[in-house]
Amino acid sequence: MDKPKRVMAAISGASGAVYARRLLEALPSFYDTIYLTASDNALGIIKDELGVDTLADLMPHAHLHKFSMLNYTDLSAPTASGSHDYDGLIVIPCSMGVVGRIAAGVSSDLVTRAADVCLKERRKLVLVVRETPLSLVHLRNLTALTEAGAIVMPAAPAFYHDPKSIDDLVDFVVDRALRALGLNTHIIYGWGERS
Ligand SMILES: Cc1cc2nc3c(=O)[nH]c(=O)nc-3n(C[C@H](O)[C@H](O)[C@H](O)COP(=O)(O)O)c2cc1C
Repeated sequence: MDKPKRVMAAISGASGAVYARRLLEALPSFYDTIYLTASDNALGIIKDELGVDTLADLMPHAHLHKFSMLNYTDLSAPTASGSHDYDGLIVIPCSMGVVGRIAAGVSSDLVTRAADVCLKERRKLVLVVRETPLSLVHLRNLTALTEAGAIVMPAAPAFYHDPKSIDDLVDFVVDRALRALGLNTHIIYGWGERS
């Protein structure tokens, strides 16, 4: 029997809650279990940017059973341990505060601990970062994380796919994030792939 496919998605306190909502719509097509958590700062930004009060409002209703909500501070959650079998962690959007804490090995909450686990176990760690401009501190932290095995993806949409709406731009970033997780997605066709 195939082992269940599990992934963790985390939302940190950076602008770009719309990216998280789109990712959560897409993940159930690929995974049996999606562990989900968000920081208090993230919840505030989600309310400001999307006008919703709870994380549950971001989950696709048809696939609610696939989501397992985890408390941001719960260091006894399954994904805090390398002994729990899950494929990886995606942080979307990912703040520079979280980048700094992961880069420094400060595993003080579930996201930074799960990131630590993914790096030490050589699992996927995808960071969809959002900040501009970037300071030298940010760049050094992002370099350290790349050297440690993370995939750093700026939330920077392209324009070659002829986007007509904000949704098209969001889809581009989320499609690339899904591919960075190793998934075979076709939300957006790659350059030269459109028939
Ligand atoms: C409204 C608002 C927007 C923010 N946007 C960003 C952002 O786009 N990028 C970033 O790196 N930090 C941003 N921050 C700062 C982060 O929230 C802060 O670094 C925090 O420590 C992130 O970690 P947390 O989600 O674990 O709280 C923002 C904060 C607020 C209040």
